[in-house]
Amino acid sequence: MKTHKDTNPARPQKASVPTPDSPTDSRTSNRRRVNKGTANTGTANTPQTDEMSRLQKVLAGAGVASRRQIEKMVEQGRIKINGQVVTEQGRLITSRDRVEIDGKKVELRANPHIYIMLHKPIRVLSTVKDEHGRKNVRDLLPKEMGRVYPVGRLDYETSGLLLLTNDGDLTLKLTHPRYGVPKTYRIRLNKALNKEDLLTLRRGVPLEDGMTRPAKVVVSPVSNTTSSPEHWAEMTLSEGRNRQVRRMFEHFGYEVLALERTSYASLNMQNLVSGAYRRLTPREIAELKQLTMDN
Ligand code: URA
Repeated sequence: MKTHKDTNPARPQKASVPTPDSPTDSRTSNRRRVNKGTANTGTANTPQTDEMSRLQKVLAGAGVASRRQIEKMVEQGRIKINGQVVTEQGRLITSRDRVEIDGKKVELRANPHIYIMLHKPIRVLSTVKDEHGRKNVRDLLPKEMGRVYPVGRLDYETSGLLLLTNDGDLTLKLTHPRYGVPKTYRIRLNKALNKEDLLTLRRGVPLEDGMTRPAKVVVSPVSNTTSSPEHWAEMTLSEGRNRQVRRMFEHFGYEVLALERTSYASLNMQNLVSGAYRRLTPREIAELKQLTMDN
């Protein structure tokens, strides 16, 4: 059985320098589409001593924002280098330059954090410790990656997009109700969803821990590809209570036969197959940070 000493997902972890994913790792089978590490791991975008690099490349590599967003900030006169407002795009800088955005000094080192998108299969725990020795999401990642923690959780029987990171600050924000981060689920039900229940699901359902926030719910066309018809719906929630989707449908007497999270915040799984993972791109990381910015 695997045990991990520190299981607190919200605790910012000491930056462990991750090793780029090894395509030969025994746990990264051919079946999976495992992408190689992206720029947020190394120092490729960091100006080394006197080496010159473009401002937007350095800031994107440090996980501050996407290149496009940096260009916009330059247009808006929000960036200063050594006390002078930057007025031209593509400005070259070195590690000795002092960069400020909106008056705040920016750390130019590459982002030491790791951000992973995993397609969690069913019957894998999203917690990282289990008394019964069941498989957990860390078992799907190479050991050399270092410790990453799930952002929120998915039930044992739920599959889909799970974000893992050692960025405790971002984890806290993404899971805080104040930011209302949207999460979309595909749900297979045991029977057709009736109109009245659909409208109540959208407005709010009285659960034992309070009324749910308004949700987007769409009924998918009945699928008859198997011998019996399949009833599917799609739901987007802006909160993340325990077993919320299941409880909302169970409230009306529906049985949830399958549940999969297809998107989280600005991320979606696209063609990441079950059990596969990939690192987020600098742009995706910047988008998540943008979503949880206070202003
Ligand atoms: N809602 C649930 O009921 N289960 C999950 O795993 C996620 C959302």
